[in-house]
Amino acid sequence: MCGIVGYLGARRVNDVLLTGLKRLEYRGYDSAGISFFENGNIKTIKKSGKVTELEKLLIGENCTGSLGIAHTRWATHGEPNDTNAHPHSDQSGKISLVHNGIIENYISLKKGLTKDGYTFRTETDSEVLTVLIGAIYEAENDFEKAVRLALAQVEGTFGIAVICSDNPVQLIAARRGSPMVFGIGNNEYIAASDASAIIQYTRSVVYLSDNEMVVINKDGFQTKTIENDLTKNKIHQIDYDLEQLEKGGFNHFMLKEIFEQNSTVKDAFRGRLLVDEGNVRLGGLSDVAEKLRKAKRIIITACGTSWHSALVGEYMLESLAEIPVEVEYASEFRYRNPILDEDDILIAISQSGETADTLAAIKEATQRGITALGIVNVVGSSIARDTSAGVYIHAGPEIGVASTKAFTSQITVLALIALWLGRMKNLSATQGKRIANAMKQLPEQIEKIYEKVDEIKAIADEYSSSRNFLYLGRGYNFPVALEGALKLKEISYIHAEGYPAAEMKHGPIALIDDNMPVVFIATKDEIYDKILSNIQEVRARRGKIIAIATEGDTLIQTVANHVIYIPETLPMLTPILAVIPLQLIAYYIAVKLGCNVDQPRNLAKSVTVE
Ligand code: G6P
Repeated sequence: MCGIVGYLGARRVNDVLLTGLKRLEYRGYDSAGISFFENGNIKTIKKSGKVTELEKLLIGENCTGSLGIAHTRWATHGEPNDTNAHPHSDQSGKISLVHNGIIENYISLKKGLTKDGYTFRTETDSEVLTVLIGAIYEAENDFEKAVRLALAQVEGTFGIAVICSDNPVQLIAARRGSPMVFGIGNNEYIAASDASAIIQYTRSVVYLSDNEMVVINKDGFQTKTIENDLTKNKIHQIDYDLEQLEKGGFNHFMLKEIFEQNSTVKDAFRGRLLVDEGNVRLGGLSDVAEKLRKAKRIIITACGTSWHSALVGEYMLESLAEIPVEVEYASEFRYRNPILDEDDILIAISQSGETADTLAAIKEATQRGITALGIVNVVGSSIARDTSAGVYIHAGPEIGVASTKAFTSQITVLALIALWLGRMKNLSATQGKRIANAMKQLPEQIEKIYEKVDEIKAIADEYSSSRNFLYLGRGYNFPVALEGALKLKEISYIHAEGYPAAEMKHGPIALIDDNMPVVFIATKDEIYDKILSNIQEVRARRGKIIAIATEGDTLIQTVANHVIYIPETLPMLTPILAVIPLQLIAYYIAVKLGCNVDQPRNLAKSVTVE
């Protein structure tokens, strides 16, 4: 959350920064701001609302320097108004800073600075860090040293970019807990919260590690620890294209990403699935294969949509690999005292690879001697680097704040892991081939679901005025119910609950009347008859039933008001297909209601604070 960008180079600074902010806006959109040089002084312009609001204010601005920083905010401390927007300045106006993260000891730092006569204009923790840097700079007259000494006093997390009007060709960026990457172009440098703001200018990037900073000057850069020890970093090449960051003719990123799933699911298993052998090759996990095989327990930890895919993974791993699995919300795992055994393995699932709670859960586990693995989308992200091994899902950049393609790719990778571990244990080659063949068919089956888009849109239109929804499923479809409800909540602000269908009797059934749409994920599996009974229970109370069912199931038409058919696959792979109509229902309801689909209120794509 919060997007940061800083630029040093010969291009028009404001243009580079604005383009960067637009790419990073998925990280937060409460306010936006920019600091640039005008006739040797730093000028800051900031505004609550989206980047387009800031853009309007920048028309006609005379930006003369070659250095600047900018920020798009997801508010933590202080209301999202103009004053609290970043960049923040110190008292002298010489220092300007953008920050992503939380300065946990800001109250005590502020007290000390206030005692020394410093005053504050905002309610933010970030301003305190800025004023602290300014205060040290006043005494030391050394900008880099001031940043280092200030950061050494800070508790909490930060990704910062900071500039000083006395050094108009020096950009400093640093991180602890929040992401920071910088790109190395032809005599130009761009630092940002993620590589999407950089790719337009260069593909060569360096990811900063925790407690590391980069000091960029006109003629080069130096990376060092906050304690001032020089560090060496590998230069990575960004592996996706600019077009992948564009909407490509779709009205929204979310819709584009829903319609990419035929290829993203394929990309997740491409080169890994050995159909003829009924097996899997996972290079990223080969070093820990034996450890995994011997694991007494796997703990999967994640947040949000990734947590839902973890639940699907639990069922798969227990049934194919015969290893007990527990799924933990990352935010809960870290704050209790989980009983861990040295033969346990932690798998962290994260699209962004930057979710603060998931990172903290990994830290907790590794500090206690547990091997942590990652299932991550963003290459080079913190979780990818903080885990000892893992599997990338290769879904490409996901920009829509509500996660879609990452979910289906995560489940695909979990299926690969379950199959691979299963084959190391008792799963026969015949069973393995059955699963591998079914996986291979998924991309085409997903395309079949796309053909139903008009039908799905009509159902979405019909129910768009409902204020509550219930989503019910059993077995592998229970996490799908949770995910369907989450999608609707996130982007249309309609109250929706996901429940195990049989649990409905223990509470939610009281909500059902003839105004209540109930979405059943009722595909053909061994508990199909049971879910039919649950449908009857809703029907008896005049609830409106929308069923996601297996192609060819005509019986369900006699009990449901609407049926959306999906192709038949193995129960363990059904979530990959069943979730797509639910993503589309949420999407079309949100569009009908005029909601901002890609940037829903209060949410952020990458939650880098606790
Ligand atoms: C935020 C996003 C969700 C996402 C969750 C976990 O809440 O809005 O879409 O599922 O974070 O993110 P991660 O990147 O760790 O999968």
